[in-house]
Amino acid sequence: MSEQMLDLHKRPLRDIRISVTDKCNFRCQYCMPAEIFGPDYPFLPQNKLLTFEEITRLTGIFTALGVGKIRITGGEPLMRRDLPELIRMLRQVDGVQDIAMTTNGSLLAKHAEALKAAGLDRVTVSLDSLDDERFGKINGRGYKVADVLNGIEAAEQAGLGIKINMVVQRDVNVDDILPMARFFREQGHILRFIEFMDVGNTNGWKLDQVVPSQEIVDMISQEMPLEPINPNYYGEVASRYRYVDGDGEIGLISSVTQAFCSTCTRARLSAEGKMYNCLFASTGFDLREPLREGQSDEQIRQLIHAYWGQRDDRYSEVRLLQTPGLEPRDKVEMSHIGG
Ligand code: GTP
Ligand code: 5AD
Ligand code: SF4
Ligand code: SF4
Repeated sequence: MSEQMLDLHKRPLRDIRISVTDKCNFRCQYCMPAEIFGPDYPFLPQNKLLTFEEITRLTGIFTALGVGKIRITGGEPLMRRDLPELIRMLRQVDGVQDIAMTTNGSLLAKHAEALKAAGLDRVTVSLDSLDDERFGKINGRGYKVADVLNGIEAAEQAGLGIKINMVVQRDVNVDDILPMARFFREQGHILRFIEFMDVGNTNGWKLDQVVPSQEIVDMISQEMPLEPINPNYYGEVASRYRYVDGDGEIGLISSVTQAFCSTCTRARLSAEGKMYNCLFASTGFDLREPLREGQSDEQIRQLIHAYWGQRDDRYSEVRLLQTPGLEPRDKVEMSHIGG
């Protein structure tokens, strides 16, 4: 039996986003800029990463506290060796209803079938452009669009659910909005546009680079009319729109212009075992030591309960009230805790 656990704003904990590695084969400027994440960057050593057994044990404790949705993230989760084995272990945990993975797609062609066989339900593939030159610059390593599209195709063949995420930046890929919308409508996949966020300390975020979701809806509507539709579930991050003249839908993730903290039911677990109550938190709560010191499930359950119970975070809402006079603060890097 799971219990309902509420934070200071009466928000329950329902989803846990688990980062399995801080490494990635891409160097997207807005996430892991190559100047900072260079050859000498001190990524986490193996012994600091939670083992699959530790992740599985924590997941069991989280599900007993009301979590049903699991998302595997990174860095790039497929950089972690034997990932399907972790999926297989998580699938057997009581109370796990949905297992999704966020990936850049470049390694998906190789692993899609094994992931599906292990029990993965769905993937969310990040893709910011359909233009090779632009995409090569965005990913910082010259990867081709086809590398990702092949991954998406393999995921489809394997029977995984698929969504596509596109981070929109004004001077980088506004021209890709319409081609992306057309292409993924044709392909039958839901494309979500994400407002560029000020995560971490290194991505050079500027408000003038954010393209408000409403502008995107207006732009697409001129060619393919859209209308809003109801969320699939309480606290869904994306606002949904469907095409009026036939099949297909898109999503808008507007954490800058329309913050959704009031319904935020997500906690994050970093690859080294720290729990974060917010994507923009400056500190996390270490669960690895208690695990390795031999504390019981019940003791760890109480630690998590207390940490969530004092959660006051609502960063995006606060920023909305403050921008443009935003006070700089030290925040965890996105590659450390996933999106
Ligand atoms: P579904 O289960 O398919 O609805 O997934 P989701 O939309 O919750 O997850 P996904 O990982 O696809 O989220 C898309 C993007 O939204 C993330 O990569 C982040 O950029 C952003 N996002 C997700 N959760 C949060 C959050 O709690 N706060 C903020 N500010 N952004 C978030
Ligand atoms: N703003 C918005 N989205 C971001 N992502 C990474 N960094 C940012 C940012 N600064 C997205 C990735 C991926 C997901 C994990 O989060 O593109 O879709
Ligand atoms: Fe890697 Fe995703 Fe970050 Fe790009 S956004 S560097 S693909 S983790
Ligand atoms: Fe949740 Fe923090 Fe994102 Fe708000 S900013 S939705 S509290 S993770």
